[in-house]
Amino acid sequence: MDWPQSTCYLNGDWLPLAEAKVSVLDRGFIFGDGIYEVVPVYYRRPFRLDSHLGRFERSTREIGLANPLDRAGWRSLVERLIATCSADDQFIYWQVTRGVAKRDFSFPADTPPTVFAMTTPFTRPSPAQRQQGLRAVTRTDERWLRCDIKSVSLLGAVLARQFATEHGADEAVQFRDGWLTEGSSSNVWVVRGGTVIAPPRDHLILEGIRYGFVGELCQRLGVPLEVRRLRRDEVEGADELMLTSATREILPVVALDGRPVGSGRPGPVYARLRAAYDEAIEALQRR
Ligand code: PDD
Repeated sequence: MDWPQSTCYLNGDWLPLAEAKVSVLDRGFIFGDGIYEVVPVYYRRPFRLDSHLGRFERSTREIGLANPLDRAGWRSLVERLIATCSADDQFIYWQVTRGVAKRDFSFPADTPPTVFAMTTPFTRPSPAQRQQGLRAVTRTDERWLRCDIKSVSLLGAVLARQFATEHGADEAVQFRDGWLTEGSSSNVWVVRGGTVIAPPRDHLILEGIRYGFVGELCQRLGVPLEVRRLRRDEVEGADELMLTSATREILPVVALDGRPVGSGRPGPVYARLRAAYDEAIEALQRR
């Protein structure tokens, strides 16, 4: 592969990404036994880093892994990573696994975790994506029952996204027992009658950092927000559909299973949320 010329962090060392190596016995490789975060950076400033650190702390607790760094440690690691990259907009990725040990399902004793972090230039969603929107397909949610943990075990997400790709779509909108959960790597929002509706934050979805952010934007704009379970027919008959994630920010979904969502064009609620989203990002530059 073509390696990006970037510097990364691995277990206390700073080195070119192409030179960073982990053992084949790393539990992240063997079991997918680890957790991760993806933090967008705008104008060289991490966006909502504290929320990401809070979610990461929760992931460490949920899988019984000691957090290798405190908040100040993570903050300075992130600052140093940003400084290694010339792009103003970046996204930071970090993952921590349960370390290198003889293959055994139980947790190894006294094994230091593997800590890896990198940054990549971030190309924000293009004008075409914002104006034309995305296409999605529906799919049964086949993932495990702890989707609230940001785990590196992502086979379910990979299969869902590949299903979307093979059907000419950008994202898979997943349903469990007929109820909306989320996308393969995004939260999904439904607009009906001017109200934004999102599934509850439980073990069946990841609580995106943008999930909280969009909630705040709705409040600020006076857009009614309801959190409740959504049936498939409510999603299929939505006026608007949107998805959010660190890398996709907020984007409209204009087609679901080949049928238009609402008017088949990005809707007015999306337009207001998108404008408020961009304004919040621009405010970072002025800070
Ligand atoms: N994924 N749900 C799932 C399953 C996700 O993987 C993600 C993000 C989200 C949105 O979370 P946030 O707003 O914090 O990005 C929801 C990231 C971007 C990824 O795995 O690359």
